[in-house]
Amino acid sequence: MNKALILGVTGQDGSYLSELLLDKGYIVDGLMRRSSVPTCYRLYNVISNPNFKIIEGDVSDTASIFRIIDDGQYDEVYNLAAMSHVGSSFFQPYAVAYIDYLGELNVLEAIRKYSPPNRHYFAGTSESFGSSINKDGFQNELTPFLPNSPYAVCKVAAEMMVRVYRESYGLWACYGILFNHESPRRGENFLTRKVTRYIGRLIASDFQLPEKLQLGNLNSFRDWGHAQDFVRAMWMMLQQDKPIDYVVGTNKTHSVKEFVERAFQYGGGLDYKEYIEINPEFIRPLEVPFLCADSSRIRLELGWKPEITFDELVDEMVSHDIKVALKEKDYN
Ligand code: GDD
Repeated sequence: MNKALILGVTGQDGSYLSELLLDKGYIVDGLMRRSSVPTCYRLYNVISNPNFKIIEGDVSDTASIFRIIDDGQYDEVYNLAAMSHVGSSFFQPYAVAYIDYLGELNVLEAIRKYSPPNRHYFAGTSESFGSSINKDGFQNELTPFLPNSPYAVCKVAAEMMVRVYRESYGLWACYGILFNHESPRRGENFLTRKVTRYIGRLIASDFQLPEKLQLGNLNSFRDWGHAQDFVRAMWMMLQQDKPIDYVVGTNKTHSVKEFVERAFQYGGGLDYKEYIEINPEFIRPLEVPFLCADSSRIRLELGWKPEITFDELVDEMVSHDIKVALKEKDYN
């Protein structure tokens, strides 16, 4: 049986990846930070599976990462642990450096010292491209990185460190340059979920919500896919013969405004303009204006492609959040 370690198991991607690996017959250990509030709520499908175990540790704590990787002797190590909110990274640049950059260095160093046969996946990001776009309007593996936030700078540094460890020490390590990926399990301060949660509460309140939805920049463009499709790409990347870094995205882009418009329409033909307010607090000091993947390489070489469309994603998130809000209303 293959044995995997997932750092960042309590997040959106960690929960979907756990389900995928357990379905494939893996033994899965998930790293969890100690917290005074419950953080396991996304793991409802796996928490009682006998092949799944939570281990306490922190990616930014070198001692715990060294011990866990030495003890575990895993076949595959996925590092998805991150402070992943781009806007917050402007307010907490040191925290991002410790978690997103030095955290990955801890993992690489632990594998090099204690468990070199591990295959390793690092969660890179399309934020690494920042303002950089190919002449054809897409971003692919050849597009130069030009990060526009403390988060993206730390991710680029970690991505480069993966390459350096691979080329210097022969580690079987790669990173995915993943474009935005969402789901009903998305954190509530990311754009998509913030919008669908509001729509759910609006409908559950019979349109009596006192506050409008406060948003920032509506004019940026994102390539939005479904997290379930994207964790499949992570796993596929670790099954190839040699470690290669791939761009993963849907190859289609939509503006924030289009997302908001579509979500409000799905929530009963609502006109978003009546319910939103632009609040400068949510406008970032520096924005990534346009992201659109050219993921032809992973499609050609590994046969990956997304199965869930943009419209299906929006619809799933809105209907999920209407149900959640109605349940909350009953409960209250
Ligand atoms: N979060 C948020 N909140 N974003 C807003 C808001 C708001 O109120 N209003 C407008 N936006 C805009 C942001 O400025 C950004 O242009 C876009 O909506 C998407 O923001 P997020 O959902 O926060 O995601 P992101 O694109 O910054 O980053 C996500 O995708 C990256 C991959 O491209 C995160 O998941 C990153 O961790 C990931 O690396």
